[in-house]
Amino acid sequence: MKLAIGNDHTALAIKAELLEHLAQRTDVELVDVGTNAPESYDYAISAYRVSRLVADGEVDGGILICGTGVGISLAANKVHGIRACVCSEPYSAELSKRHNNSNVICFGARVVGPEVAKQIVDAWLNAEFEGGRHERRVNQIMEIEGTQHLAAAEG
Ligand code: RB5
Repeated sequence: MKLAIGNDHTALAIKAELLEHLAQRTDVELVDVGTNAPESYDYAISAYRVSRLVADGEVDGGILICGTGVGISLAANKVHGIRACVCSEPYSAELSKRHNNSNVICFGARVVGPEVAKQIVDAWLNAEFEGGRHERRVNQIMEIEGTQHLAAAEG
């Protein structure tokens, strides 16, 4: 599968370790949108670049890293079609795919260490969306995004 990865200046070291780890997976091809420079870098830029690639179907999913994972996930979720989840441990990462059909995984370089980061990404990559009742719920999320209404919540 093809993935895009992006980050701000806080995440250079952890991204390097993660890239090394992912290079061992033959099923993953990566597009790195940066930043790869140590200067302060606005996370919304990487969030937008990765999210655009995901939303446009250019890649199958995205990985985003800032200090906490919070700002970069907020920015990513502003792009229509993106379901970006901040996860600090692998269980949530796995469930974010199985139940929420997340298409972007985020974490914080100041929150998790490199080994946990690898576990988070592996858990997410190895999981599959379960559909069924979860599909109805994900569709409700996308209904809110598309219409700013939710029929199931009215009346
Ligand atoms: C940068 O200092 C920091 O604010 C950023 O990496 C991220 O944590 C924002 O949510």
